[in-house]
Amino acid sequence: MNKITGGKAVKSPGLLSLIITILFAGLIIFAGAAEPSGPGDFTSNQFSKSGICSNCHGSSFGEWAGSMHSLADSDFFYNAMLQEYGVAAEAQGLSPEFCSRCHTPIGVVSSEIPPLDGSHLSEVSKEGVQCDFCHVVAESEGIGNAPYILEPGSVKWGNREDAESPSHETEGHEFYDDSAYCGMCHNIYHPVNNLTLAATYTEWEESPYAENGVNCQACHMTPGIVKFEKNPGKAASSGPKREHVYTHHFVGANAFVTGEMGEGRHEKRAIEYLQNAAKLEVNASDSAEPDENVEVEVKITNVGAGHKIPTGVTEEREMWLELTVSDSEGKELYHSGALDSKGGIDPEATVYHTVFADTDGKPTVKVWEAASIFSDNRIGPKESVIEKHSFIMPENASNPISTKAVLHYRSASQVHIDELFGEGTYDVPVIDMATYPEEEEKSSTPGFGMLGAVVALSLGSVFRRIKK
Ligand code: HEC
Ligand code: HEC
Ligand code: HEC
Ligand code: HEC
Ligand code: HEC
Repeated sequence: MNKITGGKAVKSPGLLSLIITILFAGLIIFAGAAEPSGPGDFTSNQFSKSGICSNCHGSSFGEWAGSMHSLADSDFFYNAMLQEYGVAAEAQGLSPEFCSRCHTPIGVVSSEIPPLDGSHLSEVSKEGVQCDFCHVVAESEGIGNAPYILEPGSVKWGNREDAESPSHETEGHEFYDDSAYCGMCHNIYHPVNNLTLAATYTEWEESPYAENGVNCQACHMTPGIVKFEKNPGKAASSGPKREHVYTHHFVGANAFVTGEMGEGRHEKRAIEYLQNAAKLEVNASDSAEPDENVEVEVKITNVGAGHKIPTGVTEEREMWLELTVSDSEGKELYHSGALDSKGGIDPEATVYHTVFADTDGKPTVKVWEAASIFSDNRIGPKESVIEKHSFIMPENASNPISTKAVLHYRSASQVHIDELFGEGTYDVPVIDMATYPEEEEKSSTPGFGMLGAVVALSLGSVFRRIKK
């Protein structure tokens, strides 16, 4: 957020600077005294349903409807985990509304939650992370665990100083154009032991994107896929023409829940985001002698995401490489990263995600049981990892040999979804983020895609492209 820069400080100590210091100290104490909004601070009828905003902000509404923000409360996967949390919370005396602060914020501040089964929720609370909630955040106490300070009512805060509306007051607030706004909810800490459970904001803050001023909004509130693209038009039907109006799709990587809940536009866009996030390069020879030890190196680079891949609830997400080497007759010589009949990933393959351990050191996906990080091998923004594979060339194989690599992603393991909902209920889709050799239609990606091209060129001597 706004930092007071050294250059602007008063140089010589004097009465004026003393007064300023006292005033600042006062402000800091005042700001520190503000408490995040909590249960019972408001009633849900102090918030407008999104359909009301839609009368004048039809485009924003159309983009938001079907987003994971609009589904944050109704999401079946979230709700299944929430019920498990509810049982543990009751047994262990944990705060029952912990999860809902981010997923059903109006429900929490209006004391409609608990109960966690949602039976007391009003219609506006069921809209999850919705218009009037997001636009009455007057302040935030910091990053993580949703420390928002709300002022529901006639003022709608936004990114513009000069907005005028016939139906509400407006107030420009730089905070809305800052990643820290998203950071309120996109960093999650364990409510008791403070372990970091999700850190999309911190991953971004430590990345070159933060240094270059590319914030969350630049990639997630623009029509451009993973790069900022202007969206000229009107922010409200009766408002003036604007050079850029921030879009509200808030698309990330969730093609599973959007797809199952019938939100095809968001599902399709999530696949596009995933397919612009990573780049594969392969270093492999195209011939080998019988009994030779053949080595294959695959380099995975995070070229498009402003945080690690995957990010967010990475105890659930899975990203892994499938590698196939075949001889000239199409006979498979080596295969790693395939799925078994139950949808489990080849145990030999590296799965990029976070594994939490409970107090006994056992892996768990129930974040409330997490006591430490067992492992975390995800790929940072603009960073790469190299996977090394090898196999022995069989006697009867024929040259040349060809290598195919595919980077897969899915929102959760099939095994975990089957445990939650029963086998055969949901098929978790596997999205191909990147393939090698590259498919024709993907090579024309502009913008950040260029970065991939530069990386590929500079490494050309080591990682060469095999022509089809
Ligand atoms: C009767 C029409 C109307 C309704 C209903 C309406 N707005 Fe607006 N709103 C406007 C107009 C006009 C503007 C100014 C647009 C501009 O200047 O580009 C605006 C601007 C805004 C801004 C930008 C403020 C800023 O300073 O950047 C936000 C945020 C906003 N509205 C939120 C909402 C929300 C949330 C709702 C529903 C609770 C809502 N509006 C309902 C007409 C309306
Ligand atoms: C997750 C919180 C969030 C939700 C949900 C949300 N907004 Fe916004 N909205 C923002 C932020 C943040 C900005 C400013 C982006 C920036 O400046 O970088 C914004 C900008 C706007 C603007 C001004 C756009 C412009 O560029 O002039 C309007 C109008 C608006 N929102 C209306 C709505 C309406 C209507 C809804 C519901 C359909 C909605 N918002 C839902 C966070 C949200
Ligand atoms: C009040 C808390 C809150 C705020 C503030 C918030 N988000 Fe979210 N966001 C959520 C929750 C909760 C979900 C996930 C809902 C689910 O999966 O059930 C989510 C989901 C998303 C997703 C979709 C992830 C996927 O897997 O597809 C994106 C992208 C996203 N948010 C971006 C943003 C950006 C950008 C901002 C800031 C402008 C922001 N969010 C502000 C709570 C918030
Ligand atoms: C340079 C562009 C860029 C920036 C900046 C960026 N993102 Fe993303 N984001 C992406 C791409 C591409 C994906 C899809 C690949 C992936 O899952 O990481 C994504 C995915 C996500 C997801 C879904 C991850 C998952 O696997 O479930 C969330 C949540 C998200 N972003 C939130 C944020 C937040 C919050 C910020 C700011 C702190 C941010 N993003 C900054 C490009 C960006
Ligand atoms: C500080 C805010 C916050 C809190 C608290 C929180 N979540 Fe979330 N949750 C999010 C965000 C943001 C995402 C989306 C990240 C991503 O896409 O990977 C999310 C996504 C999820 C998902 C994945 C949903 C999907 O459709 O893929 C599940 C499951 C989930 N949360 C369960 C919970 C449970 C259970 C709790 C309480 C123990 C909880 N969350 C507490 C912010 C929060």
